Amino acid sequence: MKAIVIGTGYVGLVTGACLAEVGTQVVCVDVNAEKINNLQKGILPIYEPGLEEIVTRNYNNGRLAFSTNLAEVIPGADIAFIAVGTPPGEDGSADLQYVLQVAKEIGTHMTDYLVVVTKSTVPVGTAVKVNREIKQAMLNRNALIDYDVASNPEFLKEGAAVQDFLKPDRIVVGVNTDRAKEMLERLYHPFLLNGRPIIFMDIASAEMTKYAANAMLATKISFINDIANLCELVGADVNKVRKGIGSDARIGNAFIYPGIGYGGSCFPKDVKALVQTGKEYGHGLRILEAVEAVNNDQKKVLFGKINRHFDGMLKGKTFAVWGLSFKPATDDMREASSLVLIESLLEAGANVQVFDPVAMHEAKKTLGESVKWCNDMYAAAEGADAVMLVTEWNEFRLPDWTRVKQLLKAPVVFDGRNIYDNVYLEKSGFTCYSIGVSHPAVSVLSGS
Ligand code: UDX
Repeated sequence: MKAIVIGTGYVGLVTGACLAEVGTQVVCVDVNAEKINNLQKGILPIYEPGLEEIVTRNYNNGRLAFSTNLAEVIPGADIAFIAVGTPPGEDGSADLQYVLQVAKEIGTHMTDYLVVVTKSTVPVGTAVKVNREIKQAMLNRNALIDYDVASNPEFLKEGAAVQDFLKPDRIVVGVNTDRAKEMLERLYHPFLLNGRPIIFMDIASAEMTKYAANAMLATKISFINDIANLCELVGADVNKVRKGIGSDARIGNAFIYPGIGYGGSCFPKDVKALVQTGKEYGHGLRILEAVEAVNNDQKKVLFGKINRHFDGMLKGKTFAVWGLSFKPATDDMREASSLVLIESLLEAGANVQVFDPVAMHEAKKTLGESVKWCNDMYAAAEGADAVMLVTEWNEFRLPDWTRVKQLLKAPVVFDGRNIYDNVYLEKSGFTCYSIGVSHPAVSVLSGS
């Protein structure tokens, strides 16, 4: 079986490498020649655990190739995955120009039956537009080649993308012909061992499934963050409430961890896009509008606590920030809560000293020289008025607190992800603030 994957971002590269890993012949295509050159040398555009290894292995054994020339690699392909970006347009809706451009190129260069699969997260109705582009491109060259369009949304998480792809909870495929269904069944057969299901449905439902899944997860996060803020006011501890509700199987323990808001390339963009789709159809998605508003506020919660602790006198103070990426095990800085926090601290005239195990190179593109870049978490804490935990990388989980105390000007910790034992920290002489746990000195809404 031969597959082409167009777009070498997170989804495209992981899809290409993992399909090659189980025996499919894959060519990953991208218009960015530098990216393709680097991939041929084993240099990856992103940090993702385990990805470099399978890219290199499959490139070396000839199952995975890279190209900038779609026309050249299309002949002989059975399946083409469209995995290019769908950035948000001005109104928040997904911008489909790259997806449709690729569809047009496929229609221009196709030589044989092909299943064209949208893998990028695309709004309901995109497959129809993709189909139209392909058809038009073929008409333009008087060609009549059979093809099918399918939708196969990807549910991988950054930081666990390879494992998520190789061992998916489920594979969702939207098709409208048996031929396309059989082709995708065959392609995915190696991933369905141990009873993992492939769920076939119509194309619109598959497109909707992806948005509904991300929107549901984002809703869980905003819900628990809202409850966390109320917990602070009423003197409850959200960590206990979380366990109390999570043990109800209907609610579940996953994705109800309070924090400083969700970021990344998916949730913010997809929630916005779904809200926009609702508007287009005259159906306001009120819950999701609230999910987004709560999340935007949650990104500011840590700054509020800092501001209150220091009575608004942040000018000239120095703060240590541990972790920058939107979540651990990735260098992705898109929509990272750290950026909102750091911007507020800098605006208030504070100095910021940062450390992230992987994302500093990426973060420099946005933050430039506005912060001090440190070599480790202790260097970041040196001479700071407080330390704030922003991204829960494993190496931040059990710091040498005695050392941290010696390095800080005053022993104050703001834990944005509730990973520290604040009872222990308070006993050890720290003032420790976390999310959704009332603190005698300051709560989320008291004061300003
Ligand atoms: C998400 C979906 O999980 C994945 O299925 C989809 O394909 C792409 O979007 P990703 O963005 O990689 O994946 O990260 P995820 O692990 O889902 O975390 C997203 C954000 O939510 C992070 O900022 C994380 O810190 C936050 N989060 C997650 C919480 O604040 N609380 C939680 O309980 C879980």
